[in-house]
Amino acid sequence: MKNIAAISVQNLTKEYVRGVKVLDKVSFDVIEGDIVGYLGPNGAGKTTTLKTLAALLKPTSDKAFINGIEVTKNSKEAMKSVGSLIEVPGIYEYLTPNDLFTYLGKVRGMNMKRIKERIPEVLKKVKLQDWRYKKIGSFSTGMQRRLAIATAILHEPNILILDGSTIGLDPKGIKEVAKYIENGGGAPEKVWKLRIKRIVINLIEEEGN
Ligand SMILES: Nc1ncnc2c1ncn2[C@@H]1O[C@H](COP(=O)(O)OP(=O)(O)OP(=O)(O)O)[C@@H](O)[C@H]1O
Ligand SMILES: [Mg+2]
Repeated sequence: MKNIAAISVQNLTKEYVRGVKVLDKVSFDVIEGDIVGYLGPNGAGKTTTLKTLAALLKPTSDKAFINGIEVTKNSKEAMKSVGSLIEVPGIYEYLTPNDLFTYLGKVRGMNMKRIKERIPEVLKKVKLQDWRYKKIGSFSTGMQRRLAIATAILHEPNILILDGSTIGLDPKGIKEVAKYIENGGGAPEKVWKLRIKRIVINLIEEEGN
């Protein structure tokens, strides 16, 4: 059987502005079962890479694959196995966690029965079980961040992409996120921890300034 990488990025190039390469032929594979960190200085292109993997951004050229499925060609299928939290997402302050998760669960193809089971489970994981029916606008920054993490894992994705996931968390919260990742999201049989085999990042040199 062919061994397909959980994530495969091949010669990924991105220009937000024509002629200015933010990513220049970035290639790496991530295999099933490992946890990886994606490092680089501010502005290196980490978020740009992860947004491409989470189908939030179209690359200028070449490809990104999730479980062998090309993200740009079949993003809906590819995203079934991906949970992502990229930087600071918008806040749905007039909704409650119950409203938000019901909506997201439907969008992600979960049935109502599973959504109803899953809401208390994920809220418990981020210690917001008492806040299910409270307006998100009344949450503190850290609580909103915990909630954002819960949105990423609602549909029990095999691949979890976290960018800046601990921003705004207190030290205890940071430890809990680290532990959560280490434990494979509490569902080791389902969650694929990821390892980068090789990362090739060709950063462009800043011209002028
Ligand atoms: N929407 C955009 N339009 C134009 N340029 C952008 C856009 N988003 C990012 N960039 C540029 O792309 C480069 C890479 O940004 P990116 O956010 O991917 O970096 P990063 O590695 O995630 O940085 P940080 O560590 O600060 O989060 C930066 O030079 C940034 O200015
Ligand atoms: Mg970033």
